[in-house]
Amino acid sequence: MDTIGIGLIGCGLWGSIHARTYYASPLVKRVAVCDQNRDRARQFAEKYGFNSYTSDLEELLSNPAITAVSVTTPDHTHSAILLKALEAGKHVLVEKPLALTVEECEKILAVRDKNGVKLMVDFHNHWNIPFMQVREMVNMGELGDLMMINVKLNDTIYVPTKMLDWAGKSSPVHFLGSHVVDLIRWISGSEIKKVYSVSRSVVLKKAGIPTPDFYQSILELSNGATAYVENCWIVAESAPNLFDFKGEFIGSKGSTYVNASHHRVIEKYTKDGSGYPDVLGVVDMYGKPAGFCTAPIEHFIECLAKNTDPIVTGEDGLEATRVIQAIEKSAKSGQPINL
Ligand SMILES: NC(=O)c1ccc[n+]([C@@H]2O[C@H](COP(=O)([O-])OP(=O)(O)OC[C@H]3O[C@@H](n4cnc5c(N)ncnc54)[C@H](O)[C@@H]3O)[C@@H](O)[C@H]2O)c1
Repeated sequence: MDTIGIGLIGCGLWGSIHARTYYASPLVKRVAVCDQNRDRARQFAEKYGFNSYTSDLEELLSNPAITAVSVTTPDHTHSAILLKALEAGKHVLVEKPLALTVEECEKILAVRDKNGVKLMVDFHNHWNIPFMQVREMVNMGELGDLMMINVKLNDTIYVPTKMLDWAGKSSPVHFLGSHVVDLIRWISGSEIKKVYSVSRSVVLKKAGIPTPDFYQSILELSNGATAYVENCWIVAESAPNLFDFKGEFIGSKGSTYVNASHHRVIEKYTKDGSGYPDVLGVVDMYGKPAGFCTAPIEHFIECLAKNTDPIVTGEDGLEATRVIQAIEKSAKSGQPINL
């Protein structure tokens, strides 16, 4: 089988998850990386064995050896990069969110369709085993009709203040909430019809980062269920994990609870402190990365190799952004928004 020529755009933290997965795949030829920071692109290419590097997006996209690209740049840059990549006829795996506005998402989908290429959004909870089990319970009817859903996905303040230098151009509801909205749509098999949301801008604003501290939102689903969603970027840095991810799914016949962050399957106490290491997202399995963060990238490679469609689509990206934009609008106006 011919190997698939891969390009990677955005050589930062999450780009390294994609790069490690490509490095471990025998189906892939690592052709080139691109980052606006040329030195970072060079270091990344050396570390993960890509043949070349550039800071010029057009140069990467005009390379005929590249069949598909991963886009792992900051949230607000996805739209412009995707339009060019899809127009250049490349298949695309993009980090969440697909784009920040519905208008941008619709343009992206139109260019995808015009060029007949594949587009997958990296909503990786479709591979997150506890949530896969919840979906199975729902599909098997074990919970009866889903009635009430509570999901929180929060980060410590480290993320917007020390990890991302672009947090002010995104928000906790785009960065975190897009995952949760996608999760709720996927598990319930239902669309979100109405949202009410509140947010506050105090702590991050004071720190010079122009984005809300948190959003608390209530979503009404077309199947009659309701969901409470919490996305916060100011949890204390001393929390045992960088993120706090929990879900409750209450149905007419059963209930289930997920702790996808500090589930305490392993506890660690050293001279540097204590913590609950992640065993779900990315683990090293004898030199190969494994977990729900790398599985969707392997799925994308498989779709390219077998010419099949990804299980998470551009439409999923569009629908998540539609709800996120409504959440932003509701929090701003103080009014519920119908979708
Ligand atoms: N799936 C997840 O759970 C998850 C987790 C973290 C981040 N992400 C997503 O991954 C994406 C990247 O996040 P990150 O944490 O790796 O950010 P990062 O800041 O660590 O890396 C971004 C990289 O992109 C480069 N860049 C910025 N603008 C560019 C442009 N126009 N062209 C080329 N390069 C450019 C930067 O120089 C940087 O090297 C974001 O969309 C984020 O939401 C997803």
